[in-house]
Amino acid sequence: MQQRQSSNVHGPGHSGHFTDTIWRQFIQSPAKSYALFAFIFLLLVGALISTRLLDSTALGGGTNKKLRDRKGQTDAPDITKKHYNKTEYPLKCTDGNNTKTCPGTYPTSYTPEEDHDSPLAPTCPDYFRWIHEDLRPWARTGITREMVERANETANFRLVIVKGRAYVKRNIKAFQSRDTFTLWGILQLLRRYPGKIPDLDLMFDCVDWPILLKSNYSVPGAPAPPPLFRYCANDQTFDIVFPDWSFWGWPEVNIKSWGKILKDLEEGNRRMNWTDREPYAYWKGNPVVASSRQDLMKCNVSEGQEWNARLYVQDWKREKQKGYKQSELASQCKHRFKIYIEGSAWSVSEKYILACDSVTLYVTPNYTDFFTRGLIPMHHFWPMNVYDKCRSIKFAVDWGNNHTGKVTDHNTVV
Ligand SMILES: *[C@@H]1O[C@H](CO)[C@@H](O)[C@H](O)[C@H]1NC(C)=O
Ligand SMILES: *[C@@H]1O[C@H](CO)[C@@H](O)[C@H](O)[C@H]1NC(C)=O
Ligand SMILES: *[C@@H]1O[C@H](CO)[C@@H](O)[C@H](O)[C@H]1NC(C)=O
Ligand SMILES: *[C@@H]1O[C@H](CO)[C@@H](O)[C@H](O)[C@H]1NC(C)=O
Ligand SMILES: *[C@@H]1O[C@H](CO)[C@@H](O)[C@H](O)[C@H]1NC(C)=O
Ligand SMILES: *[C@@H]1O[C@H](CO)[C@@H](O)[C@H](O)[C@H]1NC(C)=O
Ligand SMILES: *[C@@H]1O[C@H](CO)[C@@H](O)[C@H](O)[C@H]1NC(C)=O
Ligand SMILES: *[C@@H]1O[C@H](CO)[C@@H](O)[C@H](O)[C@H]1NC(C)=O
Repeated sequence: MQQRQSSNVHGPGHSGHFTDTIWRQFIQSPAKSYALFAFIFLLLVGALISTRLLDSTALGGGTNKKLRDRKGQTDAPDITKKHYNKTEYPLKCTDGNNTKTCPGTYPTSYTPEEDHDSPLAPTCPDYFRWIHEDLRPWARTGITREMVERANETANFRLVIVKGRAYVKRNIKAFQSRDTFTLWGILQLLRRYPGKIPDLDLMFDCVDWPILLKSNYSVPGAPAPPPLFRYCANDQTFDIVFPDWSFWGWPEVNIKSWGKILKDLEEGNRRMNWTDREPYAYWKGNPVVASSRQDLMKCNVSEGQEWNARLYVQDWKREKQKGYKQSELASQCKHRFKIYIEGSAWSVSEKYILACDSVTLYVTPNYTDFFTRGLIPMHHFWPMNVYDKCRSIKFAVDWGNNHTGKVTDHNTVV
């Protein structure tokens, strides 16, 4: 896999302030480069994602709007406010029918002077600070090649970037097209930020569950954990989170890239005002993958019970035969409330649910992806008690429906 060379364009510069902070953190370490590069790399990936995720109405405007806006005040930092004029490098890699190659004239270097055009330095979204947390295990020691190579054991691929070229060694083919789409995201990153991606060397595991148990590395004499990237982590693990493949697409279930889906969702949101939506909590998915999801199914409306939930099983086989008409995400923003519940690990559905302009009823998860930890309760979502789901849902929906004008005012939510 490789990246073509070319010249000079300007991009959204990372301010000196930023690099300073990073640098200070790693400067004492002999092997600082690995950690530093991994860090900058994540910043850049984040920049790519965040411009799509948070500049839009998605996370900022979803539940946020309903729980907070009309009152016009907030006690939470507004992560959507920071706008700056981005210099975008569009990905012009479709040539009529041929969507497989990008032109060879892509810029690969970056001239800092041209950044003077953009008066405002880009500000990273709030959730970026979590990368400090994820890299803490190596903050004092730095990251050595030996540590990286120990992560090879389970890694699906090793990615090396040298002078803007990506080199990949695949160990094990990942499930479906996860690895391909992850790598495609990295190539897009290289094209969007020509000359700004530092050299790096990282191991990537595409399997759902985090594996680097903190307890295994906290015993005396234990080695440092190997730095391993994957799509999620939890409180018990040292795995480093990276945006999942679905941001760039998931063809096996007909899911387009995030940028495209977001446009569809915004359009879907415009079609129906919140008060005109069904006054229930909606969820559709595969309950088989987690006991808490099977448990959730008990909250579905039945003859004896009205928990205010409308729950549906996603049958991917049937959907596929019917051309995914029933699973079109934009048409799923028809309820005032939407439930998020993770599956066997984090669920890619989270961003689509949050992006509906509905109140997200968020069953407290055990796993985190790269943006979850930046979400603020009662600002982005309404937390649901995982051990008392039906009653949590019923209460939230009743309350929201009884206070349609006030769902905005989270200060009155007890
Ligand atoms: C950003 O771009 C908009 C539209 O192109 C322009 O009106 C505005 O002045 C620009 N802002 C800055 C700070 O350059
Ligand atoms: C795409 O392919 C069709 C049929 O093969 C052809 O008629 C059309 O001109 C092609 N379009 C471009 C932009 O190459
Ligand atoms: C990583 O593992 C693969 C097999 O999964 C092996 O072929 C390769 O040599 C290993 N690389 C390193 C650096 O240990
Ligand atoms: C972690 O520790 C458990 C039990 O102590 C052990 O079974 C497991 O193999 C260890 N895992 C790793 C990755 O070292
Ligand atoms: C939504 O509400 C606004 C203001 O009440 C109204 O102007 C608009 O037409 C409504 N949109 C739809 C799709 O009903
Ligand atoms: C939940 O209830 C609705 C309405 O009765 C029904 O259409 C749906 O199939 C039920 N869902 C499940 C998972 O049983
Ligand atoms: C989180 O883990 C706990 C303990 O294993 C479990 O009871 C709970 O159902 C999990 N939460 C979810 C949302 O699956
Ligand atoms: C909502 O209103 C109904 C009837 O108006 C009332 O019975 C119920 O207790 C209210 N629920 C909440 C949570 O405010």
